[in-house]
Amino acid sequence: MAISDYPFIEAWRQVLTLSRLEAGQTVTILTSASTHPQTLSCATIAAQSLGAIVNRLDLPPVNGEKALSRDALAYLGTTPLTGNHAAIAALKASDLVLDLMTLLFSPEQHEILQTGTKILLAVEPPEVLMRMVPTPEDKTRVTAAAARIQAAREMRVRSAAGTDLRCPLGEFPAISEYGFVDEPGRWDHWPSGFALTWPNEGGASGRIVIDRGDILLPQKCYVDDPITLTVENGYAVRIEGGLSASLLDDYMASFDDPEAYAISHIGWGLQPRARWSTLGLYDREATIGMDARAFEGNFLFSLGPNNEAGGSRTTACHIDIPLRRCTVSLDGRDMVADGKVLDQA
Ligand SMILES: [Fe+2]
Repeated sequence: MAISDYPFIEAWRQVLTLSRLEAGQTVTILTSASTHPQTLSCATIAAQSLGAIVNRLDLPPVNGEKALSRDALAYLGTTPLTGNHAAIAALKASDLVLDLMTLLFSPEQHEILQTGTKILLAVEPPEVLMRMVPTPEDKTRVTAAAARIQAAREMRVRSAAGTDLRCPLGEFPAISEYGFVDEPGRWDHWPSGFALTWPNEGGASGRIVIDRGDILLPQKCYVDDPITLTVENGYAVRIEGGLSASLLDDYMASFDDPEAYAISHIGWGLQPRARWSTLGLYDREATIGMDARAFEGNFLFSLGPNNEAGGSRTTACHIDIPLRRCTVSLDGRDMVADGKVLDQA
């Protein structure tokens, strides 16, 4: 449903204020072929109304011919910044980058963040952004969960469907995604609301059952029949099941890259305004599926790279898989019980 400009501008002002934007700072809005025009205009007005100097940097898209999916998160690797020294210099010189393009994690993004520039990704449609305008309470809840992950040595995930996964922790940091960028060098994504980390390299083991109704991204579909992943030494070594498993297996095989099968980020959703059911209401072209990634009480895991956490693994393939009805525990204490977040755990 359409959104009026005025409340959208006010929402942007809230996000920019939470991101500590100050008058006189420089905001660069990164755009490309798929940038939503209303998001661009309302972000521009909001940043100007707070006294910022606002630039727009429009970059041509890349990777379209390589990806099987139209989803911007489906194919990682080179970005429009690769080798683009002029663009990188402009972004480094900015206090805040509003990424309306989907830059994704890349060496160039890492380099820009290291200069203190903040980057906020916002590419979901306006009504999704408006439904999930971040709040200080979102940050409190997500950072509390991230602190528990940071202190833990093992994450274990079980479900009645048959999941029993053990992930040793400690090599990689815990990450909070709460929807605004209030520290120098911070990257975040509006909308979000989850805490995550990565298993120690080669350490994840067990079984993951992606049950009927769980979600595959970028496929942006609910699984019809269970998929069983056997995990050994940090990799999914077998993908078994019926049609859903065959479709996932074929898609992953297209990358012809053994690193695609590594267990990547693991964590759980903490955003009550995100819903498991919304994916069924949207055209696949209209969303990147942040409701699915953030809905409260999911166990969100991923297959693919760990370079965004400082690891050495890069791969173009990246699959996010939110599961329902899991129990997630840290060092034996339940944090999520059968899909319900236990905040006092
Ligand atoms: Fe992911």
